[in-house]
Amino acid sequence: MAKILVEKSGPLSGTIKINGAKNAVLPILAATLLASDKCVLEEIPNLRDVSVMGELLTALGAKVSPLKDGCMEVDPSGEILGEAPYELIQKMRASFFVMGPLLAKNGVARISMPGGCAIGARPIDLHLKGFSALGAEIELGHGFVEARAEKLVGTTIYLDFPSVGATENIMMAATMAEGTTIIENAAEEPEIIDLANFLNKLGANVKGAGTDTIKIVGVESLGSTVHAVIPDRIETGTYMIAAAMTRGNLMIENVVPSHLKPIIAKLRECGVEIEEGDDYLRVDGKNLTGSVDITTLPYPGFPTDLQAQFMSLLTVTEGTGIVSETVFENRFMHVSELNRMGANIKIEGHSAVVQGHGNLQGAQVKATDLRAGAALILAGLVADGVTEIGDIYHIDRGYVAIEEKLRGVGANIRRVEEE
Ligand code: EPZ
Repeated sequence: MAKILVEKSGPLSGTIKINGAKNAVLPILAATLLASDKCVLEEIPNLRDVSVMGELLTALGAKVSPLKDGCMEVDPSGEILGEAPYELIQKMRASFFVMGPLLAKNGVARISMPGGCAIGARPIDLHLKGFSALGAEIELGHGFVEARAEKLVGTTIYLDFPSVGATENIMMAATMAEGTTIIENAAEEPEIIDLANFLNKLGANVKGAGTDTIKIVGVESLGSTVHAVIPDRIETGTYMIAAAMTRGNLMIENVVPSHLKPIIAKLRECGVEIEEGDDYLRVDGKNLTGSVDITTLPYPGFPTDLQAQFMSLLTVTEGTGIVSETVFENRFMHVSELNRMGANIKIEGHSAVVQGHGNLQGAQVKATDLRAGAALILAGLVADGVTEIGDIYHIDRGYVAIEEKLRGVGANIRRVEEE
């Protein structure tokens, strides 16, 4: 199995270019099933999850071109099947995003239940609540979810939690429903806005994306379009933290600074200087000082997907920082790995108390999910000795060429293929 080896690195310096957002492209790829003709997607990151979604769309009957120069073409105009193969759905939870489009287009969808993962049970009850509110018959059995609807009829749906996936799946299902659908307590992430923009370019009528109330007026059919996905705010935040931890100075390009307000604010509270440009950030960590507390929340709060990476930072800042995770029930798997590196972190319920100015030591550790894996790379950049990270397939799900990008700005990092 491949591993990533990281050694203590000096202050990072240079430029890193950010790729398109994984969490924008996955629902948008699913949404291409709603189109009546070929769609062209640009700024697509070369990630394992993207190729899995491409395989899934192909298995459903769409014609999908290989990713080339950041572009993918999806032609859904042929016959689209209503059942997704088990082995593909099990590879990636985001495969469940095809449920809404298949229901909208074919009136039937049969998908195997997505599994949980290291960070939590990852239920789909809110997705199903939305589909049945729109008039679908839902049947669960033998590990499958089957949804059928002669037609979908618009209605008002309240989400008990502003679930990103449920908001996206219901938004897609409602695009061709009869009448108007209102999603209340909707998720407000930038990736929701990007999906809504894609749907509207297809001819849908979606208003309010980015707020807690989204209104979808059903249309007869949808066309096709060309769409470039937004930059990845989580990849950006990861490299911002790398600059801070190594007290380096990084220029980070292809960025939407307004998507990063919580991480910019919290890093500034730690003494990090950040210059915000139109489409770049310059992060200077030379004056990194004290610890801060963070609480993860749905957008626009501090993103749960940057919690592990920020925790790595708090192991080397001065003082004590408290990290509270309110979005997922089990997203502290990286704590034991960081403690193996000499960190001093204690979990107390949904919070972790992180003692700072630790001297981390390199160790053999494992990535437990993609963001935890990134957090271990960041810790390795400042730890004495060699940090050997296993299970790096998690990292490859969400980061394009992370070791090349870091090596390009001075990090001692390489990937080794084990026999
Ligand atoms: C999306 O996952 C992201 N993935 C996750 O990113 C991200 O962490 C998460 O949103 C929160 O921002 C993609 O967009 C592909 P949720 P999703 O539904 O949609 C509960 C990464 O690292 N919930 O907003 O699965 C759920 O258990 C990944 O890139 C229900 O209870 O997240 C969780 O506690 C990790 N019932 C909370 O909501 C439901 O029906 C947030 O989940 C759905 C969710």
